[in-house]
Amino acid sequence: MTRPLSVGIAGLGTVGGGVLKLLRDNADIVAAHAGRPIAVVAVSARDRDKDRGVPLTGLRWYDDPAALAGDPGVDVIVELIGGSSGPAKALVESALESGKPVVTANKALLAVHGAALAALAEANDVPLAFEAAVAGGIPAIKALREGLAGNRISRVAGILNGTCNYILTQMRERGREFAEVLHDAQKLGYAEADPAFDVDGIDAAHKLAILAALAFGRPVAFDDVHVEGIRRISALDIAFARELGYRIKLLGIARQTEAGIETRVHPCMVPESAPIARVDGVFNAVVAEGDYCGRVMLEGRGAGAGPTASAVVADLIDIARGRHTPVWGAASESLSHAPSVPMTAHVGAYYMRLMVVDRPGVIADVTAALRDHGISLESMLQRGRSPGEAVPVVLVTHETNESAMRDAVARISALGAVMEEPALIRIEAG
Ligand SMILES: NC(=O)c1ccc[n+]([C@@H]2O[C@H](COP(=O)([O-])OP(=O)(O)OC[C@H]3O[C@@H](n4cnc5c(N)ncnc54)[C@H](OP(=O)(O)O)[C@@H]3O)[C@@H](O)[C@H]2O)c1
Repeated sequence: MTRPLSVGIAGLGTVGGGVLKLLRDNADIVAAHAGRPIAVVAVSARDRDKDRGVPLTGLRWYDDPAALAGDPGVDVIVELIGGSSGPAKALVESALESGKPVVTANKALLAVHGAALAALAEANDVPLAFEAAVAGGIPAIKALREGLAGNRISRVAGILNGTCNYILTQMRERGREFAEVLHDAQKLGYAEADPAFDVDGIDAAHKLAILAALAFGRPVAFDDVHVEGIRRISALDIAFARELGYRIKLLGIARQTEAGIETRVHPCMVPESAPIARVDGVFNAVVAEGDYCGRVMLEGRGAGAGPTASAVVADLIDIARGRHTPVWGAASESLSHAPSVPMTAHVGAYYMRLMVVDRPGVIADVTAALRDHGISLESMLQRGRSPGEAVPVVLVTHETNESAMRDAVARISALGAVMEEPALIRIEAG
């Protein structure tokens, strides 16, 4: 066997600890696949005395992660600190500048600075690998960039945040409200103390921006992603979804349209029969549609020490073997400059739930507003009668345009009989 690949790891938390453990436990299979051993020789974290579950004896320690890049005995840098700026960015930049390959799990860094980092990697002719950044243990990056490389991809969609999927699954199975389930998820360690990144859709948007760049061969464009989270989903809407034959999922969707590329993260009503509707709990899924492969769906664990370490080590094996693919699948001069399409141009069907005072003429006013904006109805549900009080009314539209829908909702919200902000959920094929 040739000499080992020497690795420096910055960040020894959930993922870093998992990588150390996997490289120790599966050293034989990793060496066989890599063609040589993969050995961690240097590490960096904040607290030198913390127990990492794996002994660090014999490894060089750096308080400053950026200094890892300057260690002449380190061949590859693994960045597992996190964050779109600060030490993670400084380390990745200095490693690429000094011609060292980088493996990272950092979706925030890639979504926000991916275009500049890809240019830096290309200028220095070094790999920047990030399988772990999207959907943890699911090899979604490899599948899109390599496995499906011969296809024109028309759409990629996914359940990209396990916390949101867990919360929505619990709400459906137990008939509970968002706030109660979030509270329990925090106690069980499935949600962070500050859950905003997850429940407001930002984490999923980071991952979608990366998937869209790969699927459509264009520089990553995080600022163009339309983002909505799951805070406004209620147990009532989940119950109506069931009655209508749908499940509510937070999806990230990137789609090629005639006008350009649409990228959006928001709650969706997905037909119960769609395979993605059945991906429950903390599981993630990625669906890609290509002109020759048809529809491909991958499902698995999107986070956690083991699945994420599995993805990091796959990247290290590629580097050990000398396999090197451009960051977004093609060299920068071959990337597409397809424009991003704003959310207002989206065309699709909608579920709208109103709380209206139960009195004659209200439904006529609502349907008049829809008619005046060119929106036609597929179905309407009204359950129970409670004269003079607020009752839920559900309307499902045929395909229409987002801006027409927003205008209609504004007019409907202003009706005296409409008691609260309408709940609006887009319907998606899955
Ligand atoms: N957790 C997952 O399941 C998962 C899944 C996919 C991707 N990711 C990504 O993987 C990355 C790491 O996530 P994680 O969950 O492993 O995070 P984590 O458990 O919070 O670990 C972060 C590590 O970075 C170290 N660190 C923080 N600031 C540092 C600094 N200034 N200098 C040196 N070391 C510093 C910490 O040191 P101390 O331990 O000494 O405090 C800790 O070891 C993130 O980009 C995350 O988005 C995570």
